[in-house]
Amino acid sequence: MTDPRPSRRARYLDRLDGAAALLFGGVHAVRNSDSEYRYRPHSDIVYLCGWEEPEVAALFRPGSDQPFVLFVLPKDRERETWTGRRGGVEAAHAKYGADLAFPYSELATRLPVLLQGYDRLHYAYGESAEHDKVVFGAIANVRAPLRNGTCLPWKIEHSGVLLGELRLTKDDAELAALRRAAAITTEAHLAAMQAGRPGAYEYEVEAAIDGTFRRLGGTGAGYTTIVGGGENACVLHYIENRSELRPGSLCLVDAGGEFDWYTADVTRTWPVSGRFSSPQRDVYTLVLEAQLAAIARAEAGRPFREMHDAAVAVLTRGMVELGLLDGDVDELIVEERYRKYYMHGTGHWLGLDVHDAGAYHVGMGSRKLEPGQVVTVEPGLYIASDDEDAPAALRGIGVRIEDDVLITAGGPDILTAACPKSLRAVEAACAR
Ligand code: GLY
Ligand code: MN
Repeated sequence: MTDPRPSRRARYLDRLDGAAALLFGGVHAVRNSDSEYRYRPHSDIVYLCGWEEPEVAALFRPGSDQPFVLFVLPKDRERETWTGRRGGVEAAHAKYGADLAFPYSELATRLPVLLQGYDRLHYAYGESAEHDKVVFGAIANVRAPLRNGTCLPWKIEHSGVLLGELRLTKDDAELAALRRAAAITTEAHLAAMQAGRPGAYEYEVEAAIDGTFRRLGGTGAGYTTIVGGGENACVLHYIENRSELRPGSLCLVDAGGEFDWYTADVTRTWPVSGRFSSPQRDVYTLVLEAQLAAIARAEAGRPFREMHDAAVAVLTRGMVELGLLDGDVDELIVEERYRKYYMHGTGHWLGLDVHDAGAYHVGMGSRKLEPGQVVTVEPGLYIASDDEDAPAALRGIGVRIEDDVLITAGGPDILTAACPKSLRAVEAACAR
């Protein structure tokens, strides 16, 4: 596949409509003492530049002969011995297509010159005091040439707005990466269902999952893997993963592998002993019905919000049938009483970030879905173990089912369809 980034940059330069843009990568975050977290490239930089090293800034200058400028860590034999190989300004030119490339340390002094003539700047202000200082300082220093008749970026727009729009619709290269991420993630969930026998610990399941992500060539987990046995499933972002899996309980796994920095996001809930009990089956069946109803609304032209409304309608009716809520279903929905057992949204955009860039509302309304967008669909039902209002047999049950769905003109394309989901398929995958 040809490198998609030159055409993404051309589109970005066009959509900037005469404004300059300055985007920053991140730094190696310190874990403790002399130890650092592995650097994960900034998604906007990955999207437009493909540069994977830390301490990078990309400047876009529409209308200039040299519109794409990269500031990168220069080659440095001694530093590279300690912290890893660098491409340097040479690679920024030759391999990454920068029209101009400079050492990152020259950013503050070169920016005032490079920004001359631009009256607007796209920049993610407020996210880093250090970056704000460089950018606002540069703008202050552009003032001197003003006397000579040039202009300065007096107006700053948050770069996330336009980039969110562009990143929302995935191109072919992005969809190929997401399909690989989905395939790797399916394998990881299958490994989890086999690893999660009675007496195993949640961390053993986590190890099976994260090991599969790496073994199959992914860049790792797109977010910290969640393995919640029994009532731990009712903690939505439970990442301690320290408990023993008990016979007869359920295990909820929310895990997505990244491939080429694009992540899947999948949740499956399965019986540790290999067979759902009758109350577990009832809750699972309800959540699955809600998920299928929501996926049916993942159609081009429908508002994003409809998926949630569809899931809430099914779940609330089911909460009454299961004896969790009492009253008229429509009123319970209007009063949002379902939130006691279903307290999160039904999905989000998916791509380079697990909760990907892009606005959910246009004006006052929910955004209409369009072909090329990728969403998660993830309803759940969570009954706390100490909920004395709930039927005793249901207490401590938490179920979430999540798939990744590509919106197409022909209807929803479930990227994670190969991951077992029906009661029968899940029990088969969990056979002990
Ligand atoms: N997978 C975690 C989340 O969607 O929040
Ligand atoms: Mn999700």
